[in-house]
Amino acid sequence: MPTYVTTPIYYVNAMPHLGHAYTTIVADVYSRFRRFCGDDVRFQTGTDEHGEKIAEAAAKAGETPRAYVDRIAAAFRETWPHLSIEPDYIIRTTDVDHVKTVQDILQRVYDQDDIYFSEYSGLYCKGCERFLTEKELVEGKCPDHQVEPKSITEQNYFFRMSKYQEWLIDHIKANPDFITPERYRNEVLSFLSEPLEDLCISRPTSRLTWGIPLPFDANFVTYVWFDALINYLTGIGYPDDPNFSLYWGAAEHVIAKDILKPHAIYWPTMLRAMDLEPFQRLHVHGYWNVDATKMSKSLGNVVRPKELVEIYGVDTVRYFVLREMSFGLDASFSGDAILARHNADLANDLGNLFSRSLAMIDKYVEGQVPAREKASLLTPDDRELMSAVSAMVAEYREYMEAFAFHKALQAVWEVIGLLNRYIVANAPWELAKHPRQTERLRTVLAFLAEALWKITLVLGPIMPETAAKMAAALGMGDRFASAVIDDAVIWGHIPAGTVVGKGGQLFPRVEKKEEAAAPAASRPKAKKEATPVQEEGLISFDQFKTMELRVAEIVAAEKVAKSDRLLKLTVKAPEERTIVAGIAQHYSPEALIGQKVVIVANLKPAKLMGIPSQGMVLAAKEQQADGTERLVVTTVAGPVAAGSRVA
Ligand code: MSP
Repeated sequence: MPTYVTTPIYYVNAMPHLGHAYTTIVADVYSRFRRFCGDDVRFQTGTDEHGEKIAEAAAKAGETPRAYVDRIAAAFRETWPHLSIEPDYIIRTTDVDHVKTVQDILQRVYDQDDIYFSEYSGLYCKGCERFLTEKELVEGKCPDHQVEPKSITEQNYFFRMSKYQEWLIDHIKANPDFITPERYRNEVLSFLSEPLEDLCISRPTSRLTWGIPLPFDANFVTYVWFDALINYLTGIGYPDDPNFSLYWGAAEHVIAKDILKPHAIYWPTMLRAMDLEPFQRLHVHGYWNVDATKMSKSLGNVVRPKELVEIYGVDTVRYFVLREMSFGLDASFSGDAILARHNADLANDLGNLFSRSLAMIDKYVEGQVPAREKASLLTPDDRELMSAVSAMVAEYREYMEAFAFHKALQAVWEVIGLLNRYIVANAPWELAKHPRQTERLRTVLAFLAEALWKITLVLGPIMPETAAKMAAALGMGDRFASAVIDDAVIWGHIPAGTVVGKGGQLFPRVEKKEEAAAPAASRPKAKKEATPVQEEGLISFDQFKTMELRVAEIVAAEKVAKSDRLLKLTVKAPEERTIVAGIAQHYSPEALIGQKVVIVANLKPAKLMGIPSQGMVLAAKEQQADGTERLVVTTVAGPVAAGSRVA
């Protein structure tokens, strides 16, 4: 099946920041995922190079518009490989074929009388490069750019957008997936409940020359949005190229909410006027904020993706943005949050699981994936693992299709947690001591290898570099590139006898001080082994460091049936886990929800009243006058991300 995935084309008045990177990572991940599902995918990004604000930025930089746009477009182009983003095509609106197609389309729409000449007065925001309605203003200002729009009265050309309003409402109502998530679909429908104005599509050359000349009036250039949206067609060779016939029917645009209106209203009506099918789906995400303000060049609070890659590596950045943002809602960027995700989810949960599993295969079965026991001899643990893995693959597929990337990752991390518990429960190091347990040992290790291979496959679209390393270490390097999602469904995909390598360290830990700007090369190596106690009752710093204390946010709490002492807590640290705590006599479940407490995160899992508990909540014990004890859980004062290390 063909799939055509696009990002917005970015204005070249700013260097790429994490906001641009996010949309492009999402489009890259989705493209890779669709390929993994067997689709024929075309993925396009690019740069938007005409218009008033670009002309102004060039003048400010003391460059000609041409030299200026060449320079910044190159900066965008060279950023993508650092993020493992691999577009099939990068379009520029200054490309000769794009200019020609825009002019052909304008002429055609003009000839059919959908463009007319008239006078207009309105409030123009240069940052948005569009007229805003009074309703869109907040305290008289554009909410995105924090400036008062300029009142402009001008003679210009107009596109009869209003003519297509009813058709657009019907189309959105008949196609629930046309604009997602639903909140944006509702926003557009609410906007369309008022009469739509026609769209001004020209600028007089007396005011702006940096644009595509109107083919029917040399005194005007094309309005930048009318020019820019057409990139989605010119990039696939509209009207004659076979790529256009193949991909247009499968177009999925990814954008943020700032440009919802041009994409959900201007664009489908323009396509309708051209007698073309609308795109299939518009995926709209929220903003990356810093301290509750949108990250943007004009506000000067940007995070550069390349700097993050230097500290954490590319796959941590890709993982972090997908895991941390619920697609559709805003998310906050903080150095502490990415550090916590890197060290907890990646270095600890995934990295340690992988290296210790391969080390055990190396040590106990000479580095070869063993054959597993007959189905009749499998234990309930084995069966639980098999069904958890197949449930995870199904959930992953569903969530990825729906752009719920954070949920897809949660599903994978649940299996990672389960595998860590499977190792503890089956203790291969104990099995290895007893020759009679050899078969059992071999099955446990075969199951570990198999489950890790499934995890490798589903992580491929999200963390391609890490997944390739994992595949190579599992002896499946040659199968990785051509693997499809169905390979993750079949249990027993790794042939017995496959030679595995050493896992190595997938994610070297990053210490907090490095976060500022330490070069990748100076990242610390693995934790050192603990040194023996030197003075009675004292522990060394290295010993202390083996204890992993983390901030955990309690998201759910309930009493454990038949126990008056235990509460079952669901905490985020930052992954979700269950902890059974003996504090029921001191806290009601409701009082705990939302509290950020300190937990021991690397405690061996244990079962309490049949509930697996992963960690321990720290609490102060106070001796009461009547001899009883009062427990007070340790909470943290001040805002801190769940998962932050306590040291
Ligand atoms: N040139 C237009 C788009 C034309 S598409 C036919 C434009 N360019 S832009 O450079 O301003 O890019 C806007 C897009 O960049 C957003 O829609 C989003 O994809 C991304 N982001 C820029 N800042 C962002 C955040 N702070 N947060 C999330 N995404 C952000 O608009």
